[in-house]
Amino acid sequence: MTTDAGTTWRELLAETQATLGNKQDARFLCEHAAGLDATEFTSALDELVSQRIGGYVHEMVRRRLTGEPLQYVMGRWAFRHLDLLVDARVLIPRPETELVAQVALEAARAVQPSRVVVDMGTGSGAIGLSLAHELPLVGTTVWLTDISPDALDVARANLAGIGRNGANVRIAAGDWFAALPAELAGTVDVLVANPPYVAEGDVDVEDVVARHEPHTALFSGDDGLDAIRAIAAGVRRWLRPGGVLVLEIGHQQGVAVRDVLAAHGLRDVQIRCDLTGRDRIAVAHA
Ligand SMILES: C[S@@+](CC[C@H](N)C(=O)[O-])C[C@H]1O[C@@H](n2cnc3c(N)ncnc32)[C@H](O)[C@@H]1O
Repeated sequence: MTTDAGTTWRELLAETQATLGNKQDARFLCEHAAGLDATEFTSALDELVSQRIGGYVHEMVRRRLTGEPLQYVMGRWAFRHLDLLVDARVLIPRPETELVAQVALEAARAVQPSRVVVDMGTGSGAIGLSLAHELPLVGTTVWLTDISPDALDVARANLAGIGRNGANVRIAAGDWFAALPAELAGTVDVLVANPPYVAEGDVDVEDVVARHEPHTALFSGDDGLDAIRAIAAGVRRWLRPGGVLVLEIGHQQGVAVRDVLAAHGLRDVQIRCDLTGRDRIAVAHA
């Protein structure tokens, strides 16, 4: 692929599509390099591409051809209303997690006049920063925690992107509840987590996921439930009475997670489905 002073976006897009063999990815990469949304990019198709931007597209195509996920190549991905920095330090935020955030958001909105929310295992900050962004500026506190300092660096960078609601966000490192200050015990209104829930050695995990996304973000013991058991065991100490736990779970874990949560004294345990009709979210009350 060549890019000289006379190359238009239309030509570069066609070349990128041919090289990648994927129209959608090519379009994403070119829109991203141009710094334009889909409509603006369509209007700019006959404009010339600078050599510098052309070189950037070439570099992204080279990385994509090695099998690196599109989201890491672009270094960003959309989640609800946010445009998040993502790279190999964090899980790529998934569409089903937007629904998990929605359930947590509704639970938090119902708490008046002020609310304390915790997003444990925040990764890029996708869930917790969306909550901070969408909940009222006044009366909201959102804690983001993770065991990975690298992930928290990404969450911190993304915090800068949510504007003044970012003042409501606190970030803390540590192993699940160990990250939280003792004075928060018994005061949390909503605790949400998308914990790692894949069984070690699960052969159904896509190769691209296992090769590129952080192991700590994906795998959790022989049955995938270690993290959920750890959260279930500790959560009643941190939630206020009546406080809500919202967990993303694997689509085959509904029955097991219901049992784990009930065994730890959580009430009204519900297992809800994602948009494909599969078990995906556990909701329970302290
Ligand atoms: C499935 S990822 C979720 C990331 C993000 N919340 C999302 O939904 O995109 C799980 C996250 O939990 C973190 N994690 C794994 N073990 C942990 C532990 N023991 N304590 C706290 N966080 C942990 C990982 O570093 C990772 O960022």
